[in-house]
Amino acid sequence: MEYLTLHNGFKVPVVGMGANTFGKVNHDFYGALDNDTKELIWAYENGYRLIDTAIVYRNETVIAKSIKDAHLNRKDVMVTSKIPTKELPLEDDEKIEAMIQSSINIFGGYVDIYLIHHPSTDEINLKVWKALESHYLKGHFKAIGVSNFSKEQLDYIMKYANIKPMMNQIESNPANWQQELISYCKAYDIVPVAWGPLDPVPNKDILTTIGNHYGKTWAQILLRHQIQKGVVVIPKSHNKLRQFENINIFDFTLSLEDMRKIEE
Ligand SMILES: NC(=O)c1ccc[n+]([C@@H]2O[C@H](COP(=O)([O-])OP(=O)(O)OC[C@H]3O[C@@H](n4cnc5c(N)ncnc54)[C@H](OP(=O)(O)O)[C@@H]3O)[C@@H](O)[C@H]2O)c1
Repeated sequence: MEYLTLHNGFKVPVVGMGANTFGKVNHDFYGALDNDTKELIWAYENGYRLIDTAIVYRNETVIAKSIKDAHLNRKDVMVTSKIPTKELPLEDDEKIEAMIQSSINIFGGYVDIYLIHHPSTDEINLKVWKALESHYLKGHFKAIGVSNFSKEQLDYIMKYANIKPMMNQIESNPANWQQELISYCKAYDIVPVAWGPLDPVPNKDILTTIGNHYGKTWAQILLRHQIQKGVVVIPKSHNKLRQFENINIFDFTLSLEDMRKIEE
């Protein structure tokens, strides 16, 4: 595994496991929880140590259970969770606090990385950010950040916050590379994290051709491309072999020419 260092010195693995449909009947995002941790245990067996969840995924408890089921120590697994901001009444400090506290309790007193899931108004974003800062300073989070924030939304937080966001988790794939936003994040020492790194992918043929030179699949080429750009990836797979494939990307380096072709 390789790591990126956040601006507070905290190191994060460059490959994590997306988990928005884990522990749910038929892997349906909106489905009932079945609390099945088998696929998460496979992920740990395959070497994943960063798991991406969120309050709106409703499966924080399944992720916490999976760590126990796998007989791992809590400190051996890094968890990202996220607080929703959509439709939060501005005056509702108690609701913000209750959501944060619930995540902290589920994960045994701290969450490694805690993000604002989606931007709201600047005013609400800042209010929620201040709550995250306060819990960060109490040691309840090792890193804090945002998700789906634009340059302007990041600017507002950076102007008024005491602590700059450490990460911005955004969609990044061949259908939506977001190169400008990624460059902006990096310029301000905010680590970009790619959600949906394997979906949608309209150019699989080109990626497969490039992959043939390296003995790698289109998915491995795509994930390697993003980590070579300095972007953390959190691909999701419910399949043990594809989980292995997605983390087995540290034994080759894409040429500059191939890197360029991938984003053409
Ligand atoms: N912050 C946000 O707003 C936000 C939004 C969306 C997602 N996310 C996070 O990002 C994570 C990843 O995004 P995502 O789940 O939407 O999409 P993704 O990880 O890009 O793609 C998942 C799909 O790709 C397939 N797949 C995985 N590895 C493969 C491989 N090696 N070859 C072929 N197919 C493969 C999976 O099928 P199999 O399971 O059958 O392998 C699954 O259908 C989510 O789980 C969630 O944690 C965050």
